[in-house]
Amino acid sequence: MGMNLTDNLTDYQQVRGLAIQSLFEIIEQSSEGTVIVDRDANIVWMNERYAKRFGLNSADEAIGQPCERVISNSLLRQVVRTDRPILLDIQDTPKGPLVVMRLPIHNDAGAVIGAIGFALFDELRNLSPLIERYMSMQQELASTRSLLRSRQSKYTFAHFIGTSAASLEVKRRARRSAKTESPVLLLGETGTGKELLAQAIHGASSRAHKAFVSINSAAIPHDLLEAEFFGTAPGAFTGADRKGRPGKFQIAQGGTLFLDEIGDMPLPLQSKLLRVLQEKEFEPVGSNEMLHSDVRVIAATSMDLEAAIKRGEFRADLYYRLNVLPIQVPPLRERLEDIPALSEAILEELRSHHELDREALDLLAQHAWPGNIRELRNVLERAALLSDDLILNAQEVRAAIGTFSPVARNTAVAAEEGESYNAARERFDRQVIVAALKACDGNVVEAAKRLGLGRSTLYKKMVALGIT
Ligand SMILES: Nc1ncnc2c1ncn2[C@@H]1O[C@H](COP(=O)(O)OP(=O)(O)OP(=O)(O)O)[C@@H](O)[C@H]1O
Ligand SMILES: [Mg+2]
Repeated sequence: MGMNLTDNLTDYQQVRGLAIQSLFEIIEQSSEGTVIVDRDANIVWMNERYAKRFGLNSADEAIGQPCERVISNSLLRQVVRTDRPILLDIQDTPKGPLVVMRLPIHNDAGAVIGAIGFALFDELRNLSPLIERYMSMQQELASTRSLLRSRQSKYTFAHFIGTSAASLEVKRRARRSAKTESPVLLLGETGTGKELLAQAIHGASSRAHKAFVSINSAAIPHDLLEAEFFGTAPGAFTGADRKGRPGKFQIAQGGTLFLDEIGDMPLPLQSKLLRVLQEKEFEPVGSNEMLHSDVRVIAATSMDLEAAIKRGEFRADLYYRLNVLPIQVPPLRERLEDIPALSEAILEELRSHHELDREALDLLAQHAWPGNIRELRNVLERAALLSDDLILNAQEVRAAIGTFSPVARNTAVAAEEGESYNAARERFDRQVIVAALKACDGNVVEAAKRLGLGRSTLYKKMVALGIT
């Protein structure tokens, strides 16, 4: 023909026609498949590649069939019915997912006469670096979510079993503290449920969807504590920490930080903690940059903090700052009536099908439970393991308790004739500590737990009393 390209491009009608034709040809050739249906969504044309993907020997076999019979989850019928394109979608096929585009086809009068579907790409992974990035971001999101979930609290107030007046009061105070941002101080012997309550408070607070992070001052060597709390700046240390490491304050950002065994915190760190509580900012180790802290603090200790203040081991000003909402968690021996419900809940949680008979329950109510609910749990677990019977009796429970310490009922403690107060007190201290050590086979850490003392405190007392 005489017309050249430039001539053609001046005729808009024709340009449009050419563009449409090119578009169709390019997509049809480079796509994984193309299918056209009529207004009843019956297939009128399909390319051979696409027919093969759906297990046909030839495209002819598809002609005249309802589109879903060949492409089981086809949406072309919807496109015809609604007269709306679906520009980008992912369609699952037996041979893997496809990226597809579906468009209505109109006649000259603008009425829908059918639809066309293009499978633009298969193998999403090959689609483009964009998809790969999308996928890797998806993966990162999923792992961050699961990390966050693992850092979220696993206990709620419902897990704190007990309907004794003492337990109800603890729960009431804890629930109330969940509504505020003030620090909470949980005081109570070992195994009374301080950590459980801390998690429940976090879970009921407005920070519930953020991290719950704990740090135990008694479990980490003192010279590492500061870095553990506040992190390290890049280059602060040589070796593994060269890149800098976030501290618990950073990790807990927006959430709750649980400071366990706060009584064991060294004095210099107490000053730094006080400063974070007051100024809401801190400095990572080796850095001179102040970081803002948005962290709610819940502290716990089994130590008598007022006594520690008198000994000069705990800062009074930090104590007052933390003591805004103190919650005294009572020892189990002061709420023995909770034992049946607690035992049932614990056995349930252990997925054991054991029950306790009447005498066994009576016996549980006579033990002083120096290890509190943790000890009750261990005893029940042991008894359930040792028993052949699903009903646990007093004898089996007695055997599982090990060293039975009866609840002191009206046992008068008196100084001996001519004995000074200090001497009597020393004698009493020695008796209590020796008994605890004996019960724990000489294990000081265990004995400290049993007595509700910090490990270092117990050591100091032992040295003072000459116990080895
Ligand atoms: N009221 C309760 N109801 C049910 N389970 C409880 C209750 N209190 C404590 N427990 C369980 O007892 C165990 C000890 O609780 P937790 O660790 O919270 O004690 P703790 O006061 O933090 O002890 P420690 O001072 O030794 O760290 C956990 O298994 C906890 O789930
Ligand atoms: Mg604890």
